[in-house]
Amino acid sequence: MNRYTSHVYTKFENLKPQQLIDDAQLVKTDMVNYPKVHIAPKSGLLNDPNGLVYYNELYHIFYQACPNGPFHGMKSWNLVTTKDFLTYEDHGIVLNVTEEYENFGIFSGGAIIVDSKLCLLYTANYRDPNNEYKRKAYQVLATLDENYNVVSKRIIREPDETLHTEHFRDPVAIDDFNVLIGLQDVNNQGQLAVMGYSQKDYLGDSKLSFIKNSWNLDSFMFECPNLFKLEDKNILVFSPQGVEAQDKYTFNNIHDVVYSISDKFFIEEMMWDNPIIKQLDHGFDFYAPQVFNDGERTLMIGWQGVPDTIYPGDEQYRWSQMLTTMRELTLVNGNLLQKPIDEYQQLETNWISFEREVKLESKVFKLKFSASEEFELVIGNDSYNIRLVRQGNEISLDRSKCQYLVNEKYGNVRYVNVEEDNCELEIIVDMSSIEIFINEGKYVMTSRFFIDSLTTLKLSGSDTSQFSYLKAIKYKER
Ligand code: FRU
Repeated sequence: MNRYTSHVYTKFENLKPQQLIDDAQLVKTDMVNYPKVHIAPKSGLLNDPNGLVYYNELYHIFYQACPNGPFHGMKSWNLVTTKDFLTYEDHGIVLNVTEEYENFGIFSGGAIIVDSKLCLLYTANYRDPNNEYKRKAYQVLATLDENYNVVSKRIIREPDETLHTEHFRDPVAIDDFNVLIGLQDVNNQGQLAVMGYSQKDYLGDSKLSFIKNSWNLDSFMFECPNLFKLEDKNILVFSPQGVEAQDKYTFNNIHDVVYSISDKFFIEEMMWDNPIIKQLDHGFDFYAPQVFNDGERTLMIGWQGVPDTIYPGDEQYRWSQMLTTMRELTLVNGNLLQKPIDEYQQLETNWISFEREVKLESKVFKLKFSASEEFELVIGNDSYNIRLVRQGNEISLDRSKCQYLVNEKYGNVRYVNVEEDNCELEIIVDMSSIEIFINEGKYVMTSRFFIDSLTTLKLSGSDTSQFSYLKAIKYKER
């Protein structure tokens, strides 16, 4: 037995329903880490958000799921829908392995509406059992009916070993003729490319064109790309793998997320004119975000986790990982700003002004403060804490004094350099998650942290500070 023949890769149809029910019951007993305002799995593991779309007056949030345990195994897509980001419906697994060409899982991708039908673009992860489980990646379009049943699947692009390795994945629609995708080229370098079709709906042959760039990113694979417009500029957001840390400010996680802005990117030319790449998040746990437009706003949600990581509690409660809050993106002076969507304000309770200290009654709250000089925020109890400190132009997030440590080999502190003297902070704490938005979301630090009980919050260096507990989001029966 090897990993590929083990239970990790059990097909969804062969999972024991009772096991899933038992696991979901066990998850409900987790009173220390399971989030109250973020989407997390009913059981098993979650990773990338997929197929984000506003369709039929509902927000559709799919995610990579492995419902049978807290490990990366046979991936399917789980669907959660919501009208308002306050009440959600969990539709369970809607896209799973049915074809031979996807025998090792349904990988990430996006959604597109074709003839008013919801369609999903994804990567079919094939492994050849007769050839040492060698991997191949097919790109597929699935069509769903109004009850989210898959009515058809069609391969829209076969792998081509002359252009890329087995790492060829995460397709998202640019328009009816073009699909953006990440890959590893034959020199083992990460690239972004566009699959261009001459026929609508990705019928017929496609041409694969690499986006020429001058980023100098030494990465072996670019995952989960997004291309969108804000203020008439083109913006790429993607997740390059394996970039070496340059200093204490950049690329300190196993993999990080970046963005780049171009004035004039045209599909016809495939040339990205801006060499500047910026890191999108400065915390410990943020990866593979997906961006979409709901008709009015450009929104983004990410995976609040990183690859190859086991989190405390995973085995004990048989669930692992969560999404970030949904964030609205804006472009201001060449910076991509992220702000939790306004809908979450409905979860706030009473705003209380405080000086220096709050005795905590729950692990789910929001905090706002401004500081014109150095500040220090400590959240925890007598023995353990997480700490956010400003010294000079640097803000650091230190989780070395947490009760359980994660990914220590990548360090316990993250740093971001802030240009402004004055800092306005908005922080959402949700059980084992902290999201820190600095100066209208110009700098964001997204992290998990693990302390069983939070009893006090101490803040020094701020003149105006406010605090509100948050109500939990609701699921229609779960
Ligand atoms: C990113 C990723 C994607 C892939 C998916 C598989 O986290 O590796 O590139 O499609 O996860 O779950």
